[in-house]
Amino acid sequence: MYINCDDKELEILQKIALSAEELGVPCYLIGGFVRDKILGRSTKDMDIVCVGDGIKLAAKVAEKFTPAPEVHFFKNFGTAQIKADGLEIEFVGARKESYDFNSRKPAVENGTIEDDQNRRDFTINAMAINLNKDDFGELVDPFNGINDLELKNIQTPLAPAQTFSDDPLRMMRAIRFASQLHFTIHPDTFAAIIENAGRIKIVSGERVADELNKILMSSKPSIGFDLLYKSGLLKIIFPQMVDLAGAEYIDGHGHKDNFYHTIQVVDNIAQNTDDLWLRWAAVLHDIAKPATKKFEEGHGWTFHGHEVVGGRMVPKIFTQLKLPQNEKMKFVRKLVELHLRPISLTKENITDSAIRRLLFDAGEDFDALMTLCAADITSKNKTKVKRFLENFEMVKKRCAEVEEKDHLRNWQPPITGEMIMETFNLPPSRPVGDLKNAIREAILDGIIPNEYEAARNFMLAKAKELGISGVNS
Ligand code: CTP
Repeated sequence: MYINCDDKELEILQKIALSAEELGVPCYLIGGFVRDKILGRSTKDMDIVCVGDGIKLAAKVAEKFTPAPEVHFFKNFGTAQIKADGLEIEFVGARKESYDFNSRKPAVENGTIEDDQNRRDFTINAMAINLNKDDFGELVDPFNGINDLELKNIQTPLAPAQTFSDDPLRMMRAIRFASQLHFTIHPDTFAAIIENAGRIKIVSGERVADELNKILMSSKPSIGFDLLYKSGLLKIIFPQMVDLAGAEYIDGHGHKDNFYHTIQVVDNIAQNTDDLWLRWAAVLHDIAKPATKKFEEGHGWTFHGHEVVGGRMVPKIFTQLKLPQNEKMKFVRKLVELHLRPISLTKENITDSAIRRLLFDAGEDFDALMTLCAADITSKNKTKVKRFLENFEMVKKRCAEVEEKDHLRNWQPPITGEMIMETFNLPPSRPVGDLKNAIREAILDGIIPNEYEAARNFMLAKAKELGISGVNS
């Protein structure tokens, strides 16, 4: 066997080989599984291509397992899938395809294994392992994909313009693989991406988002974002991010290039979290800098309010990028809005009250916010970074101390709205809200401790002051 498979995988491949032999159809293991095994990456998806009916082969293979797994098939596409021993195995008949210029829908004809390899996206994804009796386990590699794996080179098997015109999503895939594997895209292939970038518009937003998320989840996402930028794809799929690029100068004062700053922040955060949404918060934290940029005499460049404007941009960008409109979006928005707060607390003479307000506002997302802020420190000046990080640690320490005392991160008011209504025999109304807010403010300002007795006494005194008197008080 050319690739290193464990016993379970080998057993499965032998079952597939036997089934193919019984049906008299040549068959091959192909694509990502072969690539990833050679690279030593873990992989759970096997793609099998046979010169014949893929659905029939899947059914035959399923019979060889006890219990037999269900065969899911898509007659229109001639593909079938089974799940066995923790692997997803997909079967398809070898195809010769030509694509309609205006959609990703291929016109499919049966073909040979060579035809099938020709129509694949990259040489490193076109390698196959023979599953036929006489040559079982041998590598079938007409485009020398193995050499490209060694050279860390991404290129198309056919002329790149043809491959990308067949399926423009492959332009995103090339960049995604470059980002995931730390490979380089061959200059001819990259030139074709630049040339065909506009064709990405025929691809569904969901597929584009899927690739974007994969780039963002790679270990060094800046590789992918930089390539998206340089290829022209980013301008089409996410123009707001391109607006961050470049530095303007007035009277010799420049500001930093916020695109390169942002992707540096994303790389930094990628070292500390695998949470896709926290990584999105890093992408979007400065997104409103272009919209809020001003040159102020005597001050230089300012971006006042970019966190608030940026927060407001998040729902629209999520809609545009086909990302969810749920609590994940709200989380990203919240972090964008709060991203300057912890840093503002690194100054001297910060009161406990300011710390309490941060804990209260960040709530359960406090740790995520601190991770984002630490990643946001990107100065080239090492001493400056060191000083910043030290101050930042101080803020963290103070937050921990205040939190231990006051428990504000998962704050539940010691006096609820219901309690207020009952005490003063009030219907839901403005005075109830006023009292509730006053209690919260008093706790955050440290006037009273975060406890029931103190809050109740405060409420009674405040009610008197506001002229609220109730039967039960
Ligand atoms: N493929 C292709 N063009 C595409 C998508 C896929 O040629 N637009 C081919 C490639 O040969 C690829 C195989 O189909 O290796 C399987 O595709 P997929 O599962 O999407 O990708 P993988 O290469 O397996 O990588 P990953 O699982 O990381 O997405």
